[in-house]
Amino acid sequence: MPELPERRVLAIAEGPRTFVRAYRPEDAHEFTSRVRESQELHRPWLFPPADTEAYADHARRFTEDPSREGYLVCAREGGGIAGFVHINNIVHGAFRCGALGYGAFAHAAGRGLMTEGLGLVVRHAFGPLGLHRLEANVQPANIASLALVRRVGFRLEGYSPDFLHIDGAWRDHERWAITVEMMDQES
Ligand SMILES: CC(C)(COP(=O)(O)OP(=O)(O)OC[C@H]1O[C@@H](n2cnc3c(N)ncnc32)[C@H](O)[C@@H]1OP(=O)(O)O)[C@@H](O)C(=O)NCCC(=O)NCCS
Repeated sequence: MPELPERRVLAIAEGPRTFVRAYRPEDAHEFTSRVRESQELHRPWLFPPADTEAYADHARRFTEDPSREGYLVCAREGGGIAGFVHINNIVHGAFRCGALGYGAFAHAAGRGLMTEGLGLVVRHAFGPLGLHRLEANVQPANIASLALVRRVGFRLEGYSPDFLHIDGAWRDHERWAITVEMMDQES
């Protein structure tokens, strides 16, 4: 059998076009170059680390802080990083919930890779991570993000004024979520 490249071996989940794996220190150059290329796509919604020092802090948080999980969505074809999905504010006990953050990189956007990658992370969260619910809080004008969560099967639960402090101000957010039960209904 041909040997898989190391990046694929590290995958926590794999779909037809993407695989999802942890951040690594050696991804700093590729990740930050893609972030710098993608600023037009990301602004004003997202401000990921654009230099290697900020990347090191960012990646370290996912290994040191048990309330966060961070994954890279990679294209099976070529293995390059297409985007990322984070699960923040993970709470166990009776809640078993986490809040999602995600972004595509411009070269890979609009091809369905994030739809597949986010779906893989949701399944991983409800399987090995033992969560019951994932939230995605999205600003009402962020059309691409609303379309993504809708495609993956999230449900709109409500609207929270002044919910998150982003780009210098408190922003209203639509509150989307998915639970294990919703996935069970789907399959
Ligand atoms: C939100 C974001 C991650 C969505 O990424 P995306 O590239 O649109 O997602 P996908 O890779 O799944 O691509 C979906 C698009 O590809 C199209 N597509 C093409 N081939 C496809 C395929 N085989 N399967 C599924 N979709 C496909 C879909 O129709 C869709 O396009 P449409 O919205 O015009 O219908 C991206 O817009 C982004 O990074 N935004 C800035 C950061 C951000 O807002 N983060 C979230 C904050 S809440």
